[in-house]
Amino acid sequence: MTAATTSISETLKTQTAAAHTEAETTAFMASLAKGELSRQDAVNLTAQYYFIYSALEEAARRGRETSDAVASIADARLERVPALEQDLASMIGPNWREEIEPLPATRGYIAKLENLSPEDAPAIIAHHYVRYLGDIAGGQVIARTLANHYGFTEEALTFYDFSAVGKIPPFRAAYKQALDELSFNEAERATLVDHAKQAFTLNSAVFADLAGISPVLVKQL
Ligand code: HEM
Repeated sequence: MTAATTSISETLKTQTAAAHTEAETTAFMASLAKGELSRQDAVNLTAQYYFIYSALEEAARRGRETSDAVASIADARLERVPALEQDLASMIGPNWREEIEPLPATRGYIAKLENLSPEDAPAIIAHHYVRYLGDIAGGQVIARTLANHYGFTEEALTFYDFSAVGKIPPFRAAYKQALDELSFNEAERATLVDHAKQAFTLNSAVFADLAGISPVLVKQL
């Protein structure tokens, strides 16, 4: 099949498969998924997500206002910041805002998101795809591990609760259909794939920084 006949969703998935494997197999993610880290590591990850999603959801909101393409993808029901606020309050306590700060890689990721132009629909959609489609797929496995291996209760794991969008399989299918219906030309498709790869790399960098502050992981490495 040529690029022109391959759907956007299929192109995105195949072109980012290697970057996905890289993110999934970073020491931090792989160890987290095996239940080998500490509760504090999971709290640290949630804190970084708070900073990342705050910037991502700002970028998506700005994009929705100027671009029909972004509006067709960035469903406001997916927004995670209120859930992350609740999870951090449950994990850390009412003063959680004073207890957390972005790691250097998180600051780099945020800067990238803040610099996205609202007119740059392919870039915004790429960042949106990498996080939210991951959260509704592999994220659900992580949520079960966080409950079963690390003992977090439902009140601390609302980040992974996507019941606002209904059942996940039909939602995921509709999201991919919306991707496939984007009227992007070849250059815009290339930008989409390029930014999706970058988004994966930015996530992997955050996981590497998280490993740097994890004594359990440092011992294993
Ligand atoms: C231990 C960590 C992870 C596991 C076990 C995991 C596992 C999975 C699984 C099982 C799927 C579903 C594939 C399908 O339905 O076809 C998936 C999809 C996806 N994951 Fe992950 N994942 C992990 C980490 C990540 C991370 C860190 C990101 C992003 C930063 C991510 C982004 C995605 C995306 C965007 C998809 C959708 C692919 C598509 O269908 O287009 N994943 N993941």
